[in-house]
Amino acid sequence: KNIVVLISGSGSNLQAIMNACESGIIANAKVAAVFSNKADAYGLTRAKEAGITTEHLAACDFTDREAFDRALAEQIDQYQPDLVILAGYMRILSGEFVRHFAGKMINIHPSLLPKYTGLHTHQRAIDAGDREHGTSVHFVTEELDGGPVILQAKVPIFSDDNADDVMARVQEQEHRIYPLVAHWCLQQRVVMEGNNAYFDGACL
Ligand code: GRF
Repeated sequence: KNIVVLISGSGSNLQAIMNACESGIIANAKVAAVFSNKADAYGLTRAKEAGITTEHLAACDFTDREAFDRALAEQIDQYQPDLVILAGYMRILSGEFVRHFAGKMINIHPSLLPKYTGLHTHQRAIDAGDREHGTSVHFVTEELDGGPVILQAKVPIFSDDNADDVMARVQEQEHRIYPLVAHWCLQQRVVMEGNNAYFDGACL
């Protein structure tokens, strides 16, 4: 099975996915290519070190979002992906792009969705006085951070935590749950129908 990963930054989740393909936690699959919209994304270095093909598309080379996403989708399709994984990919996706990969594109968002869609989730959770926070893996739909949730992991927030402390705790969990969900998706144990996710036939 082929996985394509989209990144914009450090790629620690990409690393977890690559490791999980190596170790068999994600069975019979490989990361076929990694795409970044940022030329200097450290995740590109991680991919190259693992011998994985990397591609960079710069938004400034395209007239608008639709044109960029059309080119991106075309390039992704060349790898015949069974699963497209967004791992810190920091661009809003066009409706056409989302529909093209519907049911086989997942994202990880650092909050307990539906809480805190968007940016700065760790600081917002601290500011709100939350005692717990976490991360959510979800299918991607046209609603930003709004697709059906597949799996979440919770972490505590302690009174002296800053956003970096919380982020580190969250990321540790992300690196555990994202490969698991990827595996389930590739095994078709998790599927999206309509706006729902199903695990072994049960609605989540
Ligand atoms: C992760 O925390 C993820 O939840 C969010 O962006 C971050 C990406 O980190 N979408 P990395 O690039 O995988 O290290």
